[in-house]
Amino acid sequence: MNKLRIAIVGCGNVSKMHFEAAFENDKCELVACCDIVPEKAEAMSQLYGIKSFTDFDKMLAESDFDVLHICTPHYLHAPMAIAAMNRGKHVFCEKPLAIHYEDAVRMCECAENNNVYLAACFQNRYNLSSQYLRDLVKSEKLGKIVAVKGNVTWDRDEDYYSDDWHGTLEKEGGGVIINQCIHTLDLIQWLVGSEVLSVDGSISQKRLKGKVETEDTADALIKFSNGVEALFYGTLCYKSNSSVFLEILFENGKAVMYDDLVITDEKGNREVIALKRSTDAKNYWGTSHKIIIDDFYDCIINKKEFLVNGNSGSVAVRIVDGLYKSARKK
Ligand SMILES: NC(=O)c1ccc[n+]([C@@H]2O[C@H](COP(=O)([O-])OP(=O)(O)OC[C@H]3O[C@@H](n4cnc5c(N)ncnc54)[C@H](O)[C@@H]3O)[C@@H](O)[C@H]2O)c1
Repeated sequence: MNKLRIAIVGCGNVSKMHFEAAFENDKCELVACCDIVPEKAEAMSQLYGIKSFTDFDKMLAESDFDVLHICTPHYLHAPMAIAAMNRGKHVFCEKPLAIHYEDAVRMCECAENNNVYLAACFQNRYNLSSQYLRDLVKSEKLGKIVAVKGNVTWDRDEDYYSDDWHGTLEKEGGGVIINQCIHTLDLIQWLVGSEVLSVDGSISQKRLKGKVETEDTADALIKFSNGVEALFYGTLCYKSNSSVFLEILFENGKAVMYDDLVITDEKGNREVIALKRSTDAKNYWGTSHKIIIDDFYDCIINKKEFLVNGNSGSVAVRIVDGLYKSARKK
């Protein structure tokens, strides 16, 4: 069978994980890349022996490929994905699918109308800890979920906002919630597995007051239709990128993910599952970019349903969008 031809738009930080995954997959062939900064596009072109572009529309029109990876700033995800899907390309989009839920819905409709795959890069669902937790929830070994608590406490100083998109409402769409916490919010909704009824959130600036437009701290109470409530806190004002903390309270015990996964049953018996740490990726990004990308290609080739398809990846956008609306309306 012919190899899947891969193109990547956005040759910045995270794109390296995408280039490597596509390059190492023997069912694929990297064919093109694009970045508005010519040196960045050229560097990837040299490294992988592929054609480079500085204009996305030109790459779409002139390059023959099957799958587009989108690794650009948030505000470009929806228009780039829609343009590519309307040309029959499958799209693997970095998180968030879009800044606004309505745009994520439009992306899903576009994927369906063109009969192509749309993926959201929530690679942490593929972490062993997440898969273990999902199995635990499904097995109902500890009963049903009653409540969830999540904390993301990371470190971003002024340097992080020195490019033209971080810290801007127009291009990033928000701060710690839409960029960092969205992964954990996605895990929470995926594990709870029920429709989101309401989000009551608040946002604030603590470290870079007045220097950027976006929030560096936020909290929320999220209610699901099965009665589960999730309490969430996220900040970029800690002096370290701490491990994400996630507690799932069941009817008959609890599961706590923090460095390791600790499961405690109603009798107080504890099972500790040591989690493998990454050596070659930023720890806080998780280690599963290659795994989710390989799975995406496999689903396209074998016509299987993909775990984090557009509809599934849109739920977190709906929570994020709702949280901002709630916070702004107070
Ligand atoms: N899944 C994860 O864990 C994870 C981790 C980091 C970043 N991300 C996401 O990846 C995306 C990119 O983040 P990053 O850290 O790599 O940012 P970055 O700023 O390092 O890279 C973005 C690149 O897009 C290029 N670009 C901007 N406008 C363009 C255009 N019109 N056409 C072509 N290229 C254009 C920029 O020149 C830049 O090289 C964001 O959506 C971010 O949220 C995801």
